[in-house]
Parts: sequence; C-alpha cells; structure tokens
Amino acid sequence: SILIIDFGSQVTQLIARRVREAGVYSEIAPFQSAAEAFERMQPRGVILSGGPASVVDDGSPRAPQAVFDAGVPVMGICYGQQVMMQQLGGRVDKGSAGEFGEAYVAVDGDCALFDGLWRTGEQHQVWMSHGDHVAALAPGFAPVASSKGAPYAIVADEARRYYGMQFHPEVVHTPDGAKLIANFARHVCGLSGDWTMAEFRATKIAEIREQVGSGRVICGLSGGVDSAVAAVLIHEAIGEQLTCVFVDGGILRAGEAEQVVGLFRGAYNIPLVHVQAQDLFMDGLAGVTDPEAKRKFIGKTFIDVFEAEAKKIGGAEFLAQGTLYPDVIESVSFTGGPSVTIKSHHNVGGLPERMNMKLVEPLRELFKDEVRALGRELGLPDVFVGRHPFPGPGLAIRIPGEVTRERCDILRKADAIYLEEIRAAGLYDAIWQAFAVLLPVRSVGVMGDGRTYDSVLALRAVSSTDGMTAQAFEFPGGFLSRVTTRIINEVKGINRVTYDYTSKPPGTIEWE
Ligand code: XMP
Repeated sequence: SILIIDFGSQVTQLIARRVREAGVYSEIAPFQSAAEAFERMQPRGVILSGGPASVVDDGSPRAPQAVFDAGVPVMGICYGQQVMMQQLGGRVDKGSAGEFGEAYVAVDGDCALFDGLWRTGEQHQVWMSHGDHVAALAPGFAPVASSKGAPYAIVADEARRYYGMQFHPEVVHTPDGAKLIANFARHVCGLSGDWTMAEFRATKIAEIREQVGSGRVICGLSGGVDSAVAAVLIHEAIGEQLTCVFVDGGILRAGEAEQVVGLFRGAYNIPLVHVQAQDLFMDGLAGVTDPEAKRKFIGKTFIDVFEAEAKKIGGAEFLAQGTLYPDVIESVSFTGGPSVTIKSHHNVGGLPERMNMKLVEPLRELFKDEVRALGRELGLPDVFVGRHPFPGPGLAIRIPGEVTRERCDILRKADAIYLEEIRAAGLYDAIWQAFAVLLPVRSVGVMGDGRTYDSVLALRAVSSTDGMTAQAFEFPGGFLSRVTTRIINEVKGINRVTYDYTSKPPGTIEWE
C-alpha cells in the first residue's frame, strides 16, 4: 500500500484516487497522525501532498522522520516537495510572485517516473500552484525537468528513490499526471497494481467480523446506493446479527420503497424493519416553506424515528453507516493547532453522537464509483447500483414552498415519467443526476376547450464528476418536447414544463 500524508491541499483526495486507479491501495493520513499511520500500515511508498502552509514559517508541518529513516520511496508534491527538501538538507525560499495555473515543463533528464512516458527534450503541460520554491536541492537530488518559473519542477534522487515535483500531477490539468503517479506506485514502489474490489470485499469482511464479534448491528437504509452496499457487505460478514431499519417518510421517488424492501427481504434475506412514518413527516412539514427548516425537520425526525426503532430492536451496540471517503476525510486545520475537523455533510447525520453506539463504516475509504464497483462485486443489480444520487431530504427539497401529500404524489408521477423517458432514450448513465421540481407557481393553459390553471414543473439534468460543479445536460432534439407532452397529458395538476439550464456554480444541483 501507499500512505499519502496530507498537508491540507484541496486536492489530496485526488492523489488517493490516482493511486487506486493504478490498482494500488492507498490511504490518506493528516500530517498530525501520519507517524501512527506509517507505523500501522507499513506502506511500500509515501506521497507527501501539497498544502497551504509555508515550510519557511516556524511551526509549519513536517513529514515524520520515520518515513525517511525507513528507506521507502517518497514522492513530494508541491508543499510535499518543499518539505522533503527542507528536511533532507536543501533550502526553500519564500516566493514573492509564485506561479499559478497551466505551465509547461521541459524534460532535461531521466528518472523512473518517466518510464515509458517522457523523454529528454520534450515539453509537457502541467498544473502549477505555488508561492514558495526550492532554492537549493538537498544532497543526492538532481533536477530532471524545469519550467520558466520553477527550475526544479521535478527533482529526483534515484539512489534513494525520492522524487519531488513543484506542480500537481493529481489534477486533470496535468494530462500525464496520473501516469506519473502510476509509475511511482508500480515501477518505483514495486507494487503490482492488482488491488481489486474482490480483495477489498474479503479484507472488509474479516475486519467487520473482528470488530463486531458476536454483537448486534443496526443499519439505517436511506434507499440510496451507499447504505445498501454497506448493509449487504455487513450482512455477508455477520449474517443475522444485522438488522436494517428503513424509515419511509413519504418523500421517496416512485417505486423506491418497494425496490429496497424487495431487494433486502427478497433477494438477500436481510432482516429489515420498514417504518411507515409518512404521517409523522407530512404532518410536521405542514406549513413549512423555508428550505433549511425543511431540512432540519427531516433530519431530526429521521433520527427520532430511527432511535425509537433501535430501542425496540434492543441490544444493538453497533451502528452501521454508508459513510464515504469524501464525507469523512479529515481536513487539516492550521489555525487551531494540531486539531482536525471532520467535514460535515448535509446527510442523515447526527445519529452516532446521540445514540452512543460504536460505528461500523466499511465504506469509509471508498469513493462513489468504487462503492458502485463494490456493489456490483456483491451482486447488487446494475439498475440499483447505477442509480443517480438522491438527497436525504428527498422530494421535500424538490417542492419549493409547502410540502403536502398531494404535491409529493404529483411530483412522483412526473419524475417517474421523466426518468422512464431518459432510460428509454439510453441516456440515464450519461447523466449525473436528473429529476423534476414542482414549483409553487401556477400558470394558465388551455386543454381541449377548457381553461386550466395548474402548477409549473421544472426538469433538471446535470453532468458532473463529483457533484461539486455541474453543467446542464444537453438533451438531443425532440426529447424535452416529448417528455413535456407526456407529463402534461398524464399528470393531473401540471400544465406547463420548463427546463433548468443553470450551472453549478452559480446554481446548486438541487433547488433547495
Ligand atoms: P447541491 O444541491 O448542493 O447538491 O448542488 C450536491 C449533491 O448532493 C446531493 N444532496 C444531498 N445528499 N443529503 C444527501 O445525502 C442531502 O441533504 C443533500 N442535499 C443535496 C444532491 O442531490 C447532489 O447530488
């Protein structure tokens, strides 16, 4: 495995991705706990991330000395390169100007990172983002690539297998960056690149058994992919010691509850409590129009219902969650000393603190697409695993204004038609997320000989890679007219349909 030491760069997660894409397992540890992680993992290589600090400043973070003492290969990126130079006897100067954005490096030497990739004399595009720069190399290092602003764009000490680069190979703006990282992982560290989901599954099953012993586990199912994959994996590990709780607040899409219940009780034979909490949710949402108030009410009510069910089941000491890597990754804090803050996600959170249970989170190290791959490995049907993301607060945040049973029903019908047409056109997998939003606006229309005065529906579909940014999806000609006609003809209560072309930013994907 490879240990990635995080110095607080915004893109550290991408390093982990690139390493895993090369078929090598990796974990990220914040620099404060990197020494323990290094000891525990005994990695075959270490990558030092970028970060916002300046190595010249007193008290700026360092890599554990054990990393250099162990004789494993090390690759430093940006701040990571500077830290390595500083710790190994070179010098870093504070930059006055710096270099940001696209740059070109000239390859002036050779090193193992370039195997089968770059040759002397070539120029390659990279993504630079740095203020400080290396002024004097540590003993043993030689420059192998340079740019206008960075004479030491890449430096190498082949004998010790230490590499440093001033630019960011992990971002897509460095087109060959993934290959440089793969060369480090495979050629330099000698890792075989055969890390697979099958291996992950076996390892996790052993870990879950070890952690849980003969204890009981309860798992909240949201209806989404993550909690479902977590539950199936845990069930494979401990069987009937797991009970799933599925809280149905009436804010799910058409057929969703049936699908989850059918899959768990039917296909997997996993004990499942299906809580019909529609009345509780709908009564509580009456009169609530503020988006944050809706979110808060729904989050709190989920917890209340879940907690009550957990009490009924009794004796469970563990709580399972489908938490993913991007949800839990520890962000490195520079202001409050060596403290780390966990990024809070607008999810069905807050359960653990209050319930005083031990957490089982087998997906903590995975990215969304890896969870999907694991789901397929576990035999979950493709239609389930490949589903678009769906927010915890469900349809309630797709009904601006007051949420009622009737409006949920109208939206469910329209949304189902939209998704059915998208699947029929073979576009589902090309879209990150598609859904309908029922607006609190009425418009005048004419149907047959009569006047109508009904609701307006907005359709949304976006392309995205991670949900952080998004662009409106461009449907082929005729598609939106077809969907519009079907919705207006088939769904009572809607007489006008619009398409939302807003990107994120400045919009968000959901409307509330
Ligand atoms: P926004 O609307 O912030 O959404 O652009 C980004 C992604 O997150 C999803 N989303 C949520 N997921 N609980 C979730 O589990 C939530 O409360 C929540 N709110 C938004 C959204 O659907 C999109 O994929």
